[in-house]
Amino acid sequence: MVTVGDPELAAAIAELRAALHVAGLRDGGDGTRADDPATADAVLLWTDRAPSPELVGQLLSTGRPVVLAGPTISSGAAEGGLLAASGVVPGAITPVHDIRVRAGRDGAALAAHVADHSHGRAAHLGGHTHVRDLVLQVDKTADDVHHLLVASVGLVEHPVATWRPATQVMTWTLGTRPEAVSARGATRLLLLALRRALELPAPPPVRVGLLGYGAIGHEHNRAVHAVDGLDLVAVCDSSPERLSAAARYAPDARAGTDAAALLAADDVDLVIVSTPPNGHAHWARAALAAGKHVVVEKPFAISTAEADAVLALAAQRGLVATVYQNRRFDPDHRAIRRAVRAGRVGDLFHLEAFVGGYGHPCNLWHSDADVSGGAFYDWGAHVLDQLLDLMPDPIEYVTAAEQKRVWLDVTNADHSRVTVRFADGAEATFIYSDLAAALKPRWYLLGSRGAIVGHWRTERVVARSDIGTLSEDVLAPADSPPLIDLHAADGSVTRLACPPAAPYRFHAELADTIRFGLPSTVDGSQSRRVLSVMEAATTSARDGGRPVVPR
Ligand SMILES: NC(=O)c1ccc[n+]([C@@H]2O[C@H](COP(=O)([O-])OP(=O)(O)OC[C@H]3O[C@@H](n4cnc5c(N)ncnc54)[C@H](O)[C@@H]3O)[C@@H](O)[C@H]2O)c1
Repeated sequence: MVTVGDPELAAAIAELRAALHVAGLRDGGDGTRADDPATADAVLLWTDRAPSPELVGQLLSTGRPVVLAGPTISSGAAEGGLLAASGVVPGAITPVHDIRVRAGRDGAALAAHVADHSHGRAAHLGGHTHVRDLVLQVDKTADDVHHLLVASVGLVEHPVATWRPATQVMTWTLGTRPEAVSARGATRLLLLALRRALELPAPPPVRVGLLGYGAIGHEHNRAVHAVDGLDLVAVCDSSPERLSAAARYAPDARAGTDAAALLAADDVDLVIVSTPPNGHAHWARAALAAGKHVVVEKPFAISTAEADAVLALAAQRGLVATVYQNRRFDPDHRAIRRAVRAGRVGDLFHLEAFVGGYGHPCNLWHSDADVSGGAFYDWGAHVLDQLLDLMPDPIEYVTAAEQKRVWLDVTNADHSRVTVRFADGAEATFIYSDLAAALKPRWYLLGSRGAIVGHWRTERVVARSDIGTLSEDVLAPADSPPLIDLHAADGSVTRLACPPAAPYRFHAELADTIRFGLPSTVDGSQSRRVLSVMEAATTSARDGGRPVVPR
């Protein structure tokens, strides 16, 4: 039941209804259920004006959970019976600020899910989620009120989510501003607190099958091992050597060479497809048809038609289909995203990204255009994903060019350039090159008030050899996160602190999405958009660089 004066807050709450639905908390709507709260399993009251005494009486007499959300308490709308039933005595309200929300004394079960990022220098804070909102300080709570989630004000902990079993009243005092409703982290917290209050049982861990155990297979193996809520049960690769490699790290997982058997297995809930790109869509559809959730490695597929078929089948079957866009969590990308979102460069209107060097391309399928999709698809699947995350505006058209001049023994282009033109006139270009004897910066962003440059690093791993001499391993530039400089209009330069890598964030979010319906940073439709740019770039390059509207 939503009655808030701020139209932006009302719009954000309206969008939240969809997230609740995905999480299995079906929205009864205001019209039908509000008039008759007795038919609802629980009622969320999100209001800045006092409900009628009749409605309050009705809400409290059903014995069903009632959630006092957003401004309901801080605006005074809950004065009287509802507030008394919550067992919360409200105090002062802070200004809007960056809040770190942590699990409270009764929220241990939530603790594993609230860490949505990592801090290099603030490990003492423990897992927490940042939310920008005001905090309703709580003077005291009744003894039987559970503190599920808390935030500190002046080093004093205040509950922002409480649950009182005796009265079945929950409070969620965040969500007073639109961004504190629509932020993914805030949505996750609310859903977790609701699940805890409604005593929804935790679903069992997701049982994972890995299909394809090549170079990236080990990373998925380690991630599944590290993440609570994912259990590896089976590995499939057509190569017995790769199965032996898998067995070294996952000796208990079943190993086999028959992909159809993996997909048919009753004890597999999720298939991670790490075969070469031209097989992704085929295996994803087969996994979904067999009733499994699916993650495909990047690139999503070779064509948008293939990706659409995967997404449509997933929607029809109510299953998750997503893509391992792990570079969305890279420290340099996250630092740049944070600076751009905070407005530190003003309006971002020009972006260039570069990856490459001078050298023979990889000899494996990566350089075979029929298998890989071509030069746009390998690094492009990562960098275009980052680029569209930074520039989410509608795309007007894509232009592209490829050069084939030196590495004639392979079919991928030696050098590729794709430029995305956005509806507001902004442009973003990505160059991948195996013919770049000189490197461009990894990142070059111009905004109306400043710029960001990402510099490649050439790092070395130095050790002694067995006979005591220097042993030096020089990393390829792309193997170290670049250094990120923010240039202000007055010429001053600030080196941005990059958040530490969050290695298994994708997998942790995936487990929460499948088990609890919580939103993830990455979803399949975003990767479909990336694919539409790579597909348009292929057409543009083939047709002499003409503008192509992505499908
Ligand atoms: N996200 C990343 O950072 C990242 C990094 C590397 C690779 N990748 C992607 O991962 C995918 C795989 O790349 P890779 O480098 O691991 O390739 P790879 O060639 O090393 O491994 C592919 C594996 O799939 C197996 N395979 C192929 N068809 C099979 C089938 N029908 N049944 C069973 N096994 C089969 C092969 O035997 C091989 O072991 C590609 O799409 C690539 O783009 C992503």
